Amino acid sequence: MSVWKISGGRALHGEIKIQGSKNAVLPIMSAAIIKGCETELLNCPQLSDVEAAMEILKHLGCTAEREGDTVYIDSRGMNRTDIPHDLMREMRSSVIFLGAILARANEAELSYPGGCELGVRPIDLHLEALRCFGAEISEQGGNLFCRGRSLRGARVNLSFPSVGATENAMLAACGAAGETVITNAAREPEIIDLQAYLRKLGVSIWGAGTPTITISGFVLRDRVGHRVMTDRIVAATALCCAASAGGRITLRDVVPAYFETVTAALEQMGCRIDRKSHSVTLEADGRLHAPRPIATRPYPGFPTDAQPLLMAAALKAEGTTAFTENIFESRYRHAVELNRLGADISVVGRVAVVTGVKALVGAPVKATDLRGGAALITAALGARGTTTVYDIGHVIRGYEAFEKMLNDLGADVHYEDERLAPVG
Ligand code: EPZ
Repeated sequence: MSVWKISGGRALHGEIKIQGSKNAVLPIMSAAIIKGCETELLNCPQLSDVEAAMEILKHLGCTAEREGDTVYIDSRGMNRTDIPHDLMREMRSSVIFLGAILARANEAELSYPGGCELGVRPIDLHLEALRCFGAEISEQGGNLFCRGRSLRGARVNLSFPSVGATENAMLAACGAAGETVITNAAREPEIIDLQAYLRKLGVSIWGAGTPTITISGFVLRDRVGHRVMTDRIVAATALCCAASAGGRITLRDVVPAYFETVTAALEQMGCRIDRKSHSVTLEADGRLHAPRPIATRPYPGFPTDAQPLLMAAALKAEGTTAFTENIFESRYRHAVELNRLGADISVVGRVAVVTGVKALVGAPVKATDLRGGAALITAALGARGTTTVYDIGHVIRGYEAFEKMLNDLGADVHYEDERLAPVG
């Protein structure tokens, strides 16, 4: 198993293009099966989660091939409606295939997605939404059995604007007769990108990005081409890395508004920010000051996925601040590891209090989850000496060639065989 070794204290300079969005491409890959069609997805990030989704598509009888940043999916040959345990365990967000399989085949069977590092990760809102369309869902022996002989359009009110439940409802609606209206829908930009793909497929859908999404029928096409949106959380990560290490970086091919809550917090900490229509430049030198307290919220509030990253950028900032994690029940596992670098973080329930320290010192640390692992790298860039990050498999799920991106900006990050690394 590899580890990452990071030699900190090197400012970052340069311009980078940000990868396609993991959280946009996964539901779109699911949408590609609601009708037998050919899909060409451009700007598809090379990530283990995307590979896992391709394996699920192939298991279902589709073809899914990659050529560089383009993934070709042909779902005309789909001949199965089940997702087995091993594929579900590979990626719990595979539950996003449930609504699309139901829309295509009126039945679906999948192994119950387990929890993850962020907590239990229930899917009750997904199942409630699918039952609104008339689906009969039973659970037996750790498997979900869904039957929907003839799905009918419905009014689906989500008690919480769950991203995944919104996406599953949108996809199930594409196989239902009659109009569907989803209220209290998630408003994340990835939902807007899914709507854009569905429109190209011939679905009459509008309202994504607002709390109310309406699907009123479809004349589905045989071929679709779509360019996946840029990953707003990777963009926020790059900015936090530059804030932690110092320097001046420019992100190309981004929508600044999609991560404005993070950019505004960095600006408030003393970073200089220049926003253009499709790029953002951040400059940081000298000691930053602590941001105002941060509370994570559904979009357009501060994104939970950026909470570990901004925390890492704030570890040396002058003063004290507090983070409140309102979305996931257990999303501070990175705090213990960050404290091993000399940070001063104390966690009580959903609140993490961060008091800025004058310096961080490299040490062996362990990635606990995707964004928590990225936070360790963010902090290590601003630490003195060398940090060794173990369990980087968590990180490569969502960051394409992360070490290349950072080294292109002047960092010193490289893989090492774990057997040669210092004891963690
Ligand atoms: C999506 O997860 C993202 N994943 C997450 O990104 C992101 O953190 C999250 O949305 C919130 O923005 C993908 O898009 C693949 P939710 P999702 O349903 O859909 C609870 C990353 O780092 N809930 O909005 O699973 C749930 O437990 C990942 O890229 C229920 O209680 O998020 C959580 O506390 C991490 N019942 C909250 O709602 C349900 O049926 C938000 O979950 C569903 C969710």
